Amino acid sequence: MTSLTIPAGMPQYDDVPRFDVARVRADFPILDREVNGYPLVYLDSANTSHKPRQVLDVLAEHYAAHNANVSRSVHTLGTEATEAFEGARAKVAAFVNAPSVDEVVFTKNSTEAINIVAYAFSNASLRADADPRFRLGPGDEIVISEMEHHSNIVPWQLLAERTGATLRWFPLTEQGRLDESGLTELVTERTKIVSLVHVSNILGTVNATSRITQRVREVGALLLLDCSQSVPHMPIDVVDLDADFIVFTGHKMCAPTGIGVLWGRGELLAAMPPVYGGGSMIETVTMARTTFAAPPARFEAGTPPIAEAVALGAAVDYLTGVGMRAIQWHEKELTAYALDALATVPGLRVFGPTVPVGRGGTISFALGDVHPHDVGQVLDSLGVQVRVGHHCAKPVCSRFGVPAMTRASFYLYTTTAEIDALVVGLEQARKVFE
Ligand code: ALA
Repeated sequence: MTSLTIPAGMPQYDDVPRFDVARVRADFPILDREVNGYPLVYLDSANTSHKPRQVLDVLAEHYAAHNANVSRSVHTLGTEATEAFEGARAKVAAFVNAPSVDEVVFTKNSTEAINIVAYAFSNASLRADADPRFRLGPGDEIVISEMEHHSNIVPWQLLAERTGATLRWFPLTEQGRLDESGLTELVTERTKIVSLVHVSNILGTVNATSRITQRVREVGALLLLDCSQSVPHMPIDVVDLDADFIVFTGHKMCAPTGIGVLWGRGELLAAMPPVYGGGSMIETVTMARTTFAAPPARFEAGTPPIAEAVALGAAVDYLTGVGMRAIQWHEKELTAYALDALATVPGLRVFGPTVPVGRGGTISFALGDVHPHDVGQVLDSLGVQVRVGHHCAKPVCSRFGVPAMTRASFYLYTTTAEIDALVVGLEQARKVFE
């Protein structure tokens, strides 16, 4: 086994809280099903996670007993729905240690959350009286990385096109880590925002952000972290992270689709112009002009995903009950086990870090020259669900010279037996296609 050496000063392995995976699995009804006559082996949680009964029950109960619109009605159901919705916001705020509940903006997903920030920049850039931190033009720069999901590339390319700003990026090392060697040349006084993935959805890399944060502060830029693949898997504290914005999405953390989060420092959100106009985001409206509500309402125009937010609150309760540190270490053990197991498959090449340090439980690989779609089909025929393709991170595939990768990703309900089933399936695929 690859040994898990924990640096001095960190909680040591014996201190790590544990949970009973079999009991956790019993909470997820879908894990009982079969696929193609085999027990389901779900290794696609980076794509979307499954939902425990505790979350499904809250979702159904909300519609069955408390359904009403929020923040608009004084009647009993409206009050209950509003309390549940705002209660979920408070749970999410506590989950990431947000200093204020008003710093949590509900969105549809991470993609929408990033787009809200990007469009706030372009709206500010049209107004001379906007906060200069959000104003962009020719000569200004936006910095991302080659490791980003398309959702953290395309909005910034579009913003650069709209404003004349320049998009720059951190390259990747051969090991699939951010190459920070050019940090001071890349992040400069021209930089207005740095937007980086915290944990890569394709390489599993966990980006240590402290040097970058320090540089961002030195040059007076803003920092957004895409935490879609970190908030579900490890304790996240926005005060410790010291970012200006983080985004994440409910469906990867045991909640339904259709609900995501933009967290922003309160003072910044208050200075940020709105993006969507409509009901609930206003202070007052005349036919001539509108003044806007304070955050978070300013960024939540229209009827929000109410039941989904309430269910996200239930997911936060569930994950907190299991324990985020325990989940993180469960996945670290699985990752160490999987890296060792995959190394036994002849011709298999792992992309990204090959040690279980500074990486999460998402492992992409190539099986010799077998096309990932063929690998995925053989695995599916055995009940093993993995994602194949470019993983919405085409520049990463280009960086490593492949059109696509096969990806296995783990969560709190994943077992080593499922990793064994993956390895058996890969051996079979190798025999079929090689
Ligand atoms: N971001 C999701 C994934 O990586 C869709 O699979």
